[in-house]
Amino acid sequence: MADFPITRTSQPKPKPADDTLAFGKVLTDHMFLMDYTEGEGWHSPRIVPYGPLSLDPATSVLHYGQAIFDGLKAFRGPDGQVRLFRADRHAERLNRSARIMCMPELPVDLIRQSFDALVGLEHDWVPRKAGTSLYLRPTIIATDVYLGVHPAHSYLYFLILSPVGSYYKEGVKPVRILASDSHVRAVKGGTGEAKTAANYAASLAGQQDAARAGYTQVLYLDAVEHKYLDEVGTMNIMLRIGDEVITPPLAGTILDGVTRASAIELMRDWGLKVTERPVSIDEVMAAGRNGTLREMWGTGTAAVVSPVGTLGYKGEDLVINGGETGALTQRLYDTITGIQYGRSNDPHGWTSLVRPAV
Ligand SMILES: Cc1ncc(COP(=O)(O)O)c(C=O)c1O
Repeated sequence: MADFPITRTSQPKPKPADDTLAFGKVLTDHMFLMDYTEGEGWHSPRIVPYGPLSLDPATSVLHYGQAIFDGLKAFRGPDGQVRLFRADRHAERLNRSARIMCMPELPVDLIRQSFDALVGLEHDWVPRKAGTSLYLRPTIIATDVYLGVHPAHSYLYFLILSPVGSYYKEGVKPVRILASDSHVRAVKGGTGEAKTAANYAASLAGQQDAARAGYTQVLYLDAVEHKYLDEVGTMNIMLRIGDEVITPPLAGTILDGVTRASAIELMRDWGLKVTERPVSIDEVMAAGRNGTLREMWGTGTAAVVSPVGTLGYKGEDLVINGGETGALTQRLYDTITGIQYGRSNDPHGWTSLVRPAV
C-alpha cells in the first residue's frame, strides 16, 4: 500500500459507546484529502486531523453543485477483523458518478488505498457491538473560485468516516412507503444514475410530504408517465410476484446499488428467477389485491434490506405479507450481513480485510 503523509491529531476525541451510535452524527479523528488541478491531475494525497474545510464563497460547488459521493461500510466481525464490503464496486461507482458530472476520475487503486489507509489508521473507531459499523463517505467537490457555469478545473477529494449504529435495533422491521404521483426524483438523460448531491436535494420535498402523510419513505415513479417504479428513498426496490423476483432495470434514472447487485447475484445462486424489467405501480397494486404480491423490499448500504409492510398509492394502503418481513427478505438480510461480518463464507470474494496501521 502507498505511504501517505499523515499528520496525527493532538486531540483525539472520546469514542462514543457502541449502543449510543446513530447514523452520521459522530466523525472520527482524521480525514483523507487529495487535490486535482487541470494539467497536473490528482496530487498531494494526505491524512490530516478531521476539521472544517475553508472555501471561498465563490467556490463553484456551492453554486453549481458539482459534488459527488459514495457510501460504504467497514464491519468488525466476531473475530475482531475489519472488513470492507465490495470496496472496488463503490470506487468504480464514484468514477461513474464523476463521468456523469463532468468531473475527473480517480484510479480505482488510489481510491482503495485511501479507504485502507484511513480505516487502518482509525481501526479502533470501528465499533464492536453486533450490527454496528464504520461508514465511509468518499466525496469529490469542484473547487474553482469562479462564478460561471462550466466544468471546474480544480477539485478536492476527501474521505471521512463515521461509526454508525445498527439500523435495526430490534430485528428487521417493515416500513410504510408512499408511491408519489406528484414528486419525481430523476429523469432519463439526467443525473439519476449518479450519486450526486443534487439528486438528494431533489428528493427532500417528496420525502417531507410522505412523512407528513405518515409514511417513512417515498417510492418514486418515472418522471414521464408517473407509472413505472424507480427507487425508494435511498434504496433500490425489489418485489416478488408469484415465483418471480422483479426489480426495475438500470436504465438511467436509478442508482446502480451495490446491495441491489449483491442481492440479485445471491438470489440467482439460489435458483430464483430474477427479472430486471420495468414494473408499473398498477401491476404492483393489482398483484397486491389478487394475493400474488408476496414480498416487497428496498436494498441499500444503510439498512441492507428494508421490508415494505405497507404501500400507499392514491389513497389506498396495500398491506404486504400481513405487514411482516417475508422469508426471502429475511434470508437476504441474514446472508448479506453474514458475509459482511465474516460470520459466513464469502464465495464471491466481496469482502477485503483492513489491517490496523502500525
Ligand atoms: C438513491 C439511492 N438509491 C439506491 C441506493 C442503494 O445503493 P447501495 O446498495 O449501493 O447502498 C442508495 C444508497 O447508496 C441511494 O442513495
